[in-house]
Amino acid sequence: MAEIVDVDICCGLCWGDEAKGKIVSHLLKNNKYDWVCRWSGGSNAGHTIYINNVKYATHIIPAGIFYNIPCYIGPDCYINYYHLKSEMEYLKKHGFDTSLIYISNKAHVITDDHITEDNAIYKAQQGSTGTGIAPCAKDKYGRNGKRIEDDDMFPFKENLWTSENIPLKGNILCEGAQGFWLDINYGSYPYVTSSNTLPYSACSLGFPPHKIRNIYGACKVYDTRVGVDPYFSHNESKKYKTFFNTIASVGEEYGTTTKRLRKVEWLNIDKLIEAINISGTNIIIISKLDILVIVNKYVYIYNGQYQEHLNKDDFVNSINNIIYEKCTYVSKIVYSDNPINVNDLC
Ligand code: IMP
Ligand code: MG
Repeated sequence: MAEIVDVDICCGLCWGDEAKGKIVSHLLKNNKYDWVCRWSGGSNAGHTIYINNVKYATHIIPAGIFYNIPCYIGPDCYINYYHLKSEMEYLKKHGFDTSLIYISNKAHVITDDHITEDNAIYKAQQGSTGTGIAPCAKDKYGRNGKRIEDDDMFPFKENLWTSENIPLKGNILCEGAQGFWLDINYGSYPYVTSSNTLPYSACSLGFPPHKIRNIYGACKVYDTRVGVDPYFSHNESKKYKTFFNTIASVGEEYGTTTKRLRKVEWLNIDKLIEAINISGTNIIIISKLDILVIVNKYVYIYNGQYQEHLNKDDFVNSINNIIYEKCTYVSKIVYSDNPINVNDLC
């Protein structure tokens, strides 16, 4: 049997939208991966990736496709055939080889009824993306769902993955969807998605936990949120409203999937520490420092208090000191400017 060598995982440490797509895309430039895998979520996620200065957006298909690397969408994902088809056609049109995409025979199928129910109930209640995820998960865990292997109508038979025909092997990169605080177990329940977003759940792809090498945890230098979440509208944050509006507009904080404007809050280091430690992150990539430099305001939340810093260096040093003190697995913190220096990540 072919051997799995090493597995690296990129996960979100916040509420999604932490530039995981960009990080994965940079890791792939070194050409050291044999498979790129997606272990959770569905069309609710969105990755924005720039290849040779051209912007691409995908929802379910991993970024490996842009680098001619086989991509695997695992059994814990939720698949909408229409979205998958249109994403495949979009990639083909741009010259990418969609025969490299493999979809687990055990992934669950999102039906039109799931989408209708999501839009009728969960969208208003929780600000869901309306892509049918929660109703599909409800059927899955009620053991009443439909898996791809049970569906004769599955339109991409040549892309079907089974462990017998195509074993995962070599070096594997797993790209996360959503983030720690959207996780069904650890997130701010019930304001969460229906997936397991933490790196341990990447093992559902079919590799043993002891093969995991690096866990890349992604966050931004400020927090953002789409969808309903009382934490993002507490009273104290109102005094920073003008800054948050500027950050949202300069930082282009709107969703890849829904185009909704994201709510902004200063980076909550208390929450970040929890996310880093429970996920087991050892390399942290903090994006969008350039946006705070433009806004010229340096604040984070620590020990439950807003703490302001006079300048960028003071702010960055202070964040680093806290993380290195409180998060013992962390060996590296990278502040990603645009573009990331890929050598910083390895
Ligand atoms: P659902 O995943 O569509 O059920 O949405 C549940 C919650 O997760 C809502 O608050 C969404 O806005 C949020 N959410 C789901 N996927 C993403 C994502 O990829 N980025 C950011 N938020 C997301
Ligand atoms: Mg995203």
